[in-house]
Amino acid sequence: MFQRTRRLRSSAILREMLQNVHLSLQDLIYPIFVEEGENKKEEISSMPGQYRYSIDRLPELLENCRELGIKALLLFGIPNHKDEVGSEAYHSHGIVQKALQFIKENYGDQFLLITDVCMCEYTSHGHCGILHEKEVDNDTTLQFLSKIALSHAQAGADIVAPSDMMDGRVQAIRATLDENGFSYIPIMAYSVKYASSFYGPFRDAADSAPSFGDRKSYQMDFQNDKEFYQEVLSDMEEGADFIMVKPGMPYLDVLHAVKERISLPLVSYQVSGEYSMIKAAALQGWIDEKKIVLESILAFKRAGADLIITYYALEIAAWLKENRK
Ligand code: PBG
Repeated sequence: MFQRTRRLRSSAILREMLQNVHLSLQDLIYPIFVEEGENKKEEISSMPGQYRYSIDRLPELLENCRELGIKALLLFGIPNHKDEVGSEAYHSHGIVQKALQFIKENYGDQFLLITDVCMCEYTSHGHCGILHEKEVDNDTTLQFLSKIALSHAQAGADIVAPSDMMDGRVQAIRATLDENGFSYIPIMAYSVKYASSFYGPFRDAADSAPSFGDRKSYQMDFQNDKEFYQEVLSDMEEGADFIMVKPGMPYLDVLHAVKERISLPLVSYQVSGEYSMIKAAALQGWIDEKKIVLESILAFKRAGADLIITYYALEIAAWLKENRK
């Protein structure tokens, strides 16, 4: 005896006709790491297949993206010089600013450039803000975040994405951008960002682990299922244009709950630890990498993500191309 669901699955053609969750190239955002120096393409040891590039080596990566149809990039910078106030984060000669200028000069508007606005890669202590007696000082940090976002916009960023988790940062950044003629630049807010161990490999990649303490006073507690909505609401009120939920796969329940309540574009971030776990198992030959990645990314879509940030973007693009053949 076949039940209805089973009858509707009985033919491959019918299954395909009934598929209503789809992944497309336009959903993907690829994070890239840019570092100071020349002729550098260094593999990140905890993220095999991902590299830190010096600006002069970016063209090979960008050509690859172009060929595969990946157009949206999320830029992270690794400076040579770190200090208490992360001054390289907002200087016009900072690594991200130089990378933005380089890409805009050489590729025009072929890429959508999103920049991570945070301080942890730039501060000597590795925290996401300015310290006052070993605590991150929220309101002082807002002034710095606004300067960083403005310097990114001036250097050519198309979207700024604050990931610091200070209260009031969306409003502060929005006001600064507006005052300086950048009211057309959207803010992609890392609104729901948990204090997660899944960021471990990223902190290797960006050399941004805090030198003392942790980020639990500003990032969210994963043992609380109430505060996420407050974070989303305040970012929306402050003027966020996109809402992000991060990490990805372990937090699809939260993503889905946000999806049901708001209609702004929703972004999910498959973070470094998620990438590294899949990659490690794949390198061991324990899993079918392509199938696992495509299934995982489809789960993001099913849960409600409009856009997905993933280190697998290039591979996915190549697999989607293959599937079309
Ligand atoms: C910067 C930032 C982090 C990530 C994105 N922006 C690290 C952190 O908050 O510790 C994590 C990305 C990843 O793990 O892939 N604050």
